Amino acid sequence: RRCCYGGAGDRGVAAAARRIPGSRGSARAGTSIIPPVAHEIAPVRGAGRGRFRGCEGGAGRGRRPAMRHFLSTLDYTRAELELLLATARRLKAGPHAQTLGGKSIALVFFNPSLRTRTSFELGMHQLGGKAIVLEPGKGAWPIEFDEGAIMDGEPEEHVREVAQVLSRYVDAIAVRAFPKFQRWEDDREDRVIQAFARHASVPVINMETITHPCQELALAMTLQERLGGTDGKKLLLTWTYHPKPLNTAVANSALIIAAKLGMDVTLLCPSPEYVLDPRYMAAAQGFAAAQGRSVTVSHDIASAYRGADVVYAKSWGALPYFGRWADERPLRERSRGFMVDAEKMALTPNALFSHCLPVRRNVKVSDEVLDSPRAMHIDEAENRLHVQKALLDALLAGGTL
Ligand code: CP
Repeated sequence: RRCCYGGAGDRGVAAAARRIPGSRGSARAGTSIIPPVAHEIAPVRGAGRGRFRGCEGGAGRGRRPAMRHFLSTLDYTRAELELLLATARRLKAGPHAQTLGGKSIALVFFNPSLRTRTSFELGMHQLGGKAIVLEPGKGAWPIEFDEGAIMDGEPEEHVREVAQVLSRYVDAIAVRAFPKFQRWEDDREDRVIQAFARHASVPVINMETITHPCQELALAMTLQERLGGTDGKKLLLTWTYHPKPLNTAVANSALIIAAKLGMDVTLLCPSPEYVLDPRYMAAAQGFAAAQGRSVTVSHDIASAYRGADVVYAKSWGALPYFGRWADERPLRERSRGFMVDAEKMALTPNALFSHCLPVRRNVKVSDEVLDSPRAMHIDEAENRLHVQKALLDALLAGGTL
């Protein structure tokens, strides 16, 4: 079976079930508490162009840092993320140098975007660089991802060529590739961005696949701004109703970044089918346990809201129902009461509220909550710009990381 993206059949092509060949373990020993999985790629060493290419030689022999991708925050320590956030605060505070003069990035979008596209394009511009947007299948050729494919179908080129060619032109490649929503066993391998990371010789940045690490940074920055610190604070991650089964990426990301930042996290969802992938549950539980905190799953709305300092809302599809969404529908329809509203927020000690956006008003969250001074979703959206500039500075210009 074929795995191609960007063609007319994007939504309909069954994802191939093969594992990604050549996947390696986590980026740095000790930075990830879960076993190596396909989405965690080791730094690429010794190939390509630019400042971050090549990392041979030991300490004291002019050792240069390995090129690093930004595929998942699981590959980064809390200390490294805190450095990025500190840079983001500095960039937000006032005028700054244009550290990316002459640098460029390709933004490869397989799915729509408002915030991600705008903030990356603008961020590169504000740092003196250039962003080029590519939409495979819509102005750029549809891409094949299967290794060894006989390419007699729709895709006109293979990710091997795409990633290598772009690496000759630009200094980084950012990719948005949502799951195909057919089989979670396939989607959880994150094969599109993994293929870009494997074949590119420049840093690859995740603009949302099965996690959304840039959104994590923005959430972290906003939490720090509003709460002062995150350690010991309680974050409620609540599933909300939405008429369609959505990506689990932001929920996975909110879970792992809150736990990594030392928060007590409650995951509220209608039933056990909506619990997130064990990879992210285990990672969050590991981060929490290491800091004396907890990750709890609840299906009881009232008790979950009580004591929350922050309510973070997101809707997602139940993993056991991937590809069988008609079977999930009755569960979803029974759970319309999970919408975030003023009555539920009143159960909290005046909690903050946020959402990654886009949000459907009065379906996922009521007007009253979104328009409240305790809502910080617009701040979070703004902070996408600042954290991504910090990330681009770190990966492309050797900034703090
Ligand atoms: N939150 C977010 O990533 O928004 P877009 O889908 O508009 O980029």
